[in-house]
Amino acid sequence: MDEITLIRPDDWHLHLRDGEALKAVVGHTAAQMGRAIIMPNLTPPITTTEQAIAYHQRILAALPAGSRFEPLMTLYLTDTTPPEEIERAVNSGIVKAVKLYPAGATTNSASGVTDLSHCDDTIAALAEAGMPLLMHGEVTDNEIDIFDREAVFIERVLTPLLARHPTLKVVFEHITTQQAAEFVAQAPDTVAATITAHHLLFNRNKMLVGGIRPHYYCLPILKREQHRQALLKAATSGSGKFFLGTDSAPHAQSAKESSCGCAGAYTASTAIELYATAFEEAGALAALEGFASLNGPRFYGLPPNRDSITLSRRSQSIPASYPYAQGEAIIPLLAGETLGWSIS
Ligand code: DOR
Ligand code: ZN
Repeated sequence: MDEITLIRPDDWHLHLRDGEALKAVVGHTAAQMGRAIIMPNLTPPITTTEQAIAYHQRILAALPAGSRFEPLMTLYLTDTTPPEEIERAVNSGIVKAVKLYPAGATTNSASGVTDLSHCDDTIAALAEAGMPLLMHGEVTDNEIDIFDREAVFIERVLTPLLARHPTLKVVFEHITTQQAAEFVAQAPDTVAATITAHHLLFNRNKMLVGGIRPHYYCLPILKREQHRQALLKAATSGSGKFFLGTDSAPHAQSAKESSCGCAGAYTASTAIELYATAFEEAGALAALEGFASLNGPRFYGLPPNRDSITLSRRSQSIPASYPYAQGEAIIPLLAGETLGWSIS
């Protein structure tokens, strides 16, 4: 197969930031994706529908002229988000989901949830409305090893939550372990997962062997090969529960290449080509359209995009950097390297 045409994909997990940074990155996603679920972890976070509507306007204003890209907005859940906020979110037609960051789990998560028991009424309102809860699925307890934080989250947080709210729609975001892939596969159809391209392509050796490579540092952190294989199996299985979510997370070069570097991989500019590379490795290019273009809309109750994109087996060099905010650069994942697929 030297050419593959797909219904235009969507990105069900994306960081666009704000201001100058937003203007620097949004065109990359808009050039290939029809829609994207926009993460709310700005500073300060997007916690109300009113803020989400204003952020939506800023994203539309930052798009290249003529773009039909549609941002799908989310709210950042806090210990004090009232159930009435869910009603406002549903009525807005613009907010499509609510994001749970366990407090302290990752970038700009300080205002996240300290204990889900504080949010029980609000989560009941989400279940009632059929609006998905998107979860950064890692515990934050100091005594839990960073490589185990996702698996422990399933036991300590996700399983009890689903027992309390059996009809809640949940997206277990950017899963990175065999445990998460197996959990989602056996869960009811109300539970789905996104998978990033970088977790399908790389294990932790890529980040740590031969030197510490900060552009591969993201959260949840890359795991060992056994987990990458389980993710590839899930993504290419044909199950409608797994779909594309890049977690493309821009940070300035100086914030990544630092003695305490930020978590995040920037993949938006070549997202679908990276996924095609991973699916090809698994001998499963035929499963790419379901994962990238059909499963996400079905879970969110939205129609698939009406146009298509064509990928061809033509190599492209990933630029060494892109311009970012404040005169800084962003270093994309695989900067300066060659990919075997290009958008025609
Ligand atoms: O690597 C990550 N970067 N993981 C996250 O959960 C957050 C994201 C960011 O916002 O930079
Ligand atoms: Zn993210």
